[in-house]
Amino acid sequence: MHKPRSVRDADVAGKRVLVRVDFNVPLEEGKVADDTRIRAALPTLRLLFEKGASNVICCSHLGRPKGVADPKFSLKPVAARLAELLGREVAFDDPSAPICVLENTRYVAGETKNDPEYAKQLASLADVYVNDAFGSAHRAHSSTEGVAHLLPAYAGLLLEKELDELGKLLGEVDRPFVVIVGGLKVEDKIGVLRKLGERADELLIGGKMAEQVHADNPVGRDVELPDDTVIADDFSPDANTRVVDYFDVPEGWQRLDIGPRTRERFCSIIAKAKTIFWNGPMGVFEFPKFAEGTRAIAEAVADSGAHSVVGGGDVVRAIEEAGVADRISWVSTGGGASLELLEGKELPGVLAIPEA
Ligand code: 3PG
Repeated sequence: MHKPRSVRDADVAGKRVLVRVDFNVPLEEGKVADDTRIRAALPTLRLLFEKGASNVICCSHLGRPKGVADPKFSLKPVAARLAELLGREVAFDDPSAPICVLENTRYVAGETKNDPEYAKQLASLADVYVNDAFGSAHRAHSSTEGVAHLLPAYAGLLLEKELDELGKLLGEVDRPFVVIVGGLKVEDKIGVLRKLGERADELLIGGKMAEQVHADNPVGRDVELPDDTVIADDFSPDANTRVVDYFDVPEGWQRLDIGPRTRERFCSIIAKAKTIFWNGPMGVFEFPKFAEGTRAIAEAVADSGAHSVVGGGDVVRAIEEAGVADRISWVSTGGGASLELLEGKELPGVLAIPEA
């Protein structure tokens, strides 16, 4: 795996540093609803100040505004939250300030096309480039890839740590190694299921994708699947519910969670694990009636004492709601990026940074 050189070794004293962060965070009513990704960038930003950078210019995308300036995707609330977290003033879209957050890179059409002109424009703002946006490192965009070829480029502390933590799962691990995958679509996760499936001692599959794997197992090995399920007569938080065998779903009902028998079987496998990777919920945990499966898995992962790595926004939320986040070894800030890395792919944002 490509090992990019570290910001720790960068000479930034008196220099302007462009930092690509992943501030693609949920906003609600003009405020940051979850600041996990902003907090995850703080160590690199603090390090740059300690090392005497004259200007720290943060840039990121937020949402998918497709090359137009749509105010609902503005980074302004993010600059405000960053200021609170750092306890200092953070300018918005003003690269002459000691620290600023630029406006959404995806307001510029060239960004997602990795347009060299936009990369040049970004590079002209700074002397050094640091990429700390692990969550976006699978995108070859101007701010994540193109600009890295135009300035001395380094990996930020978060990017480094993510590569290290996720990379470990592709090397020697303590066994049993249990991989838990849930969520919606097998297509999005088939690469990871196959790659980690070859390495895992147990592969547990829940969520909507269990239906697809039950129908036609594309993984190429034995997997543990649900054998009972919590069903609903409507896709709504106050639907009527029943617990049935997996294939006994009456007409007009749908599966929204794994059942108690499956929960117990999955949790007893997890209890014996020494290494765990988990991506994707077991059901529609946003509705409390269908959250039990995901919650039980979250608690079992935390209680197992295994080295545990979780990724993907949904699971991160679920472990926070279950109150177990501090007992998980590494909570990845990457969704798609963590999956691509674990498929064994090199990420363009990482490859663009020279090795030490
Ligand atoms: C993410 O949230 O996974 C990253 O920020 C990447 O966002 P994208 O899928 O819109 O490129």
